[in-house]
Amino acid sequence: MVSEQDWNTFMETGEVSPTIPPIVVQSWNYCRSIKLNPLKGYSQEVVTGKAFEEIMSHNSELLKIAIPFVQRLFMEMKDFKNSSFIGVLSDKDGYILKTILPAHGTDLSHSLYYSEGLRQTEELIGTSAISLVQKTLKPLQVAGFEHYCKIHHNTSCSAAPIIDASGELVGVFSLAGPKDKVNSHTLGMVIATASAISNLMKADQANSTLSEKTNMYMTILDSMNDGLIMLNAKGIVQYINPFGAKTLHIDRRKAINRPIDSLVDFDPIIMHALRSGVGYTDREFFIETKRGTLDFVKTAIILKDDDGMTTGAIDIFREIKRVKDLINKITGATAKFTFDDILGNDSALLEAIRMAKIAANGNANVLIQGESGTGKELIAQSIHQASARHDGPFIAINCGAIPRNLVESELFGYEGGAFTGAKSNGQAGKFELAHGGTIFLDEIGDMPLEIQVQLLRVLQEQRIMRIGGTRYIDIDVRVLAATNKDLAEGVANGNFRADLYYRLNVLPITLPPLRERHSDIVLLINMLLENKCQRLDIQRKHFDQESFDIMQKYTWPGNIRELENVVERMIYTCPHEVITKDFLPANMKKQDTPPPSWLGDNMTLKEFEHRYIMQVYEQCDKNISQTAKSLNIGRNTLYSKLKEVDENILVENN
Ligand SMILES: Nc1ncnc2c1ncn2[C@@H]1O[C@H](COP(=O)(O)OP(=O)(O)OP(=O)(O)O)[C@@H](O)[C@H]1O
Ligand SMILES: [Mg+2]
Repeated sequence: MVSEQDWNTFMETGEVSPTIPPIVVQSWNYCRSIKLNPLKGYSQEVVTGKAFEEIMSHNSELLKIAIPFVQRLFMEMKDFKNSSFIGVLSDKDGYILKTILPAHGTDLSHSLYYSEGLRQTEELIGTSAISLVQKTLKPLQVAGFEHYCKIHHNTSCSAAPIIDASGELVGVFSLAGPKDKVNSHTLGMVIATASAISNLMKADQANSTLSEKTNMYMTILDSMNDGLIMLNAKGIVQYINPFGAKTLHIDRRKAINRPIDSLVDFDPIIMHALRSGVGYTDREFFIETKRGTLDFVKTAIILKDDDGMTTGAIDIFREIKRVKDLINKITGATAKFTFDDILGNDSALLEAIRMAKIAANGNANVLIQGESGTGKELIAQSIHQASARHDGPFIAINCGAIPRNLVESELFGYEGGAFTGAKSNGQAGKFELAHGGTIFLDEIGDMPLEIQVQLLRVLQEQRIMRIGGTRYIDIDVRVLAATNKDLAEGVANGNFRADLYYRLNVLPITLPPLRERHSDIVLLINMLLENKCQRLDIQRKHFDQESFDIMQKYTWPGNIRELENVVERMIYTCPHEVITKDFLPANMKKQDTPPPSWLGDNMTLKEFEHRYIMQVYEQCDKNISQTAKSLNIGRNTLYSKLKEVDENILVENN
């Protein structure tokens, strides 16, 4: 116990009696060093009004937990409800947030020094329980003359720190009373209260972190575009997300705590997984319901406890239609051309476009005929884009490019394990993927006869059965077919089924070859030059009149695709702004040559051969390889024939 004498001695001389606890000595020395007036010692720092409200709101978490707790202490505990102790809750900076008086308190004059908004630190009020707890973070009691300032000599105060989850000081709780009322339980009581508040705060923080996380997870599940149901081990719904409820036509609010089999009008597949305890990933299921067949890709996750007992299941499901839309999006199964991309004023072309626009307005099957490179795919895409199905997929399949034995599975799909090499989960065919859109069967003339029979059936019935499957899948698909072969001839010689030909040929569209579109050639060349130069970001190039003439007379066996290639090549290979005939491909220039004048002469076959060989030889700039290639003979044959004409010809050539 520090006596008044001890205090006086220190204040006069600075000497300390050995009975004074070291922590008090340390604090007294500090107060002396900062020249704190021991006769004053009443905190000058008080916050009120807005500033106090702000401090209160900073400490709302602490207040929310501590106040009810302390209030109960003073309401219910015998030791306190009639006592002269006051409870003081201060924040980490020493501001008194709340002073709580006992329900039926007596002799509370010391409460004056603990008014709300007052700040108490060692610098402001000297040695006190509250200021030392702030410094040491340890509970302690400071009584009577231990206080540095005289004003507190009649009080005794016990204080303990309130610590948060990260070990930081958030506040101090203390009980202050008259010096003579202090007893040893008081500090114990304060420690118990402060640590209970600390623990409640930690729990509260943990709870709010947990509920933030739970909220986040729930938001994710709620906004998922897949259906998700959580079941307990008995198949009772614990959670169903909005998308799942919508897909299965379940009222979400009524679903919780009800068995899944009472909520749907079919046998829930997830129950089999739950019973067997074995889950699966991305498996396809067809579910027969009263509203029709639902086609799902499902994943079942079985939840187990540490002993391996099934505790529940998570069922994630996605409608196949959405999976297919996704596939089409990723694989680019969309049309990009429209009627606006088709260039030309040729009357046959305009007639083809007119027919195509009629086709776009309806749903009839269309057969597009035309030589290679005449724009069959362009027309097919334009029809799809102008049709009511333009939001649906556009699936093109080249019947000539797929190995014969795979055509069927490509078109119609297969069930798991239907044939060697089939994936175990099965696969949807192009017809299924094209559902709601258009399928473009390119090179239909190359379709194997046995597949033609099946295609005919699909066109008639508007449904397919996968290879190895047992059920029909309804499909709504418009069929556009194209061929560069003469299908009528194919029918005549038995390579193409007549019935299929007539089914497809409801609306025939025939694209004219480029050589018959004389007026369009100039237009196309100019458009292509313009577009390509622009795309390459180079100066616009031009063909001179001579090369233009050659191109117009050329027969263009590869049609517009060939024209595109030639123009592109010219742009790359000719360094000048004006492209001359020298840059045109050799085969085009050859055609340009007028018939030789000697053709009318009388001559033997041998003579004719010699003259003709010489002519080609000259045309090919006396290049042996090119001449041989043009005449379709070997180089050695050419040598011997040239020697027949003139022994010295090759010497000259070398
Ligand atoms: N009228 C046209 N206007 C502009 N470009 C065209 C026109 N016709 C075709 N093309 C272009 O020519 C190229 C070949 O067209 P497309 O692929 O449609 O021909 P195709 O008849 O399907 O050929 P193939 O029989 O070889 O498959 C494409 O780059 C296309 O954009
Ligand atoms: Mg094509």
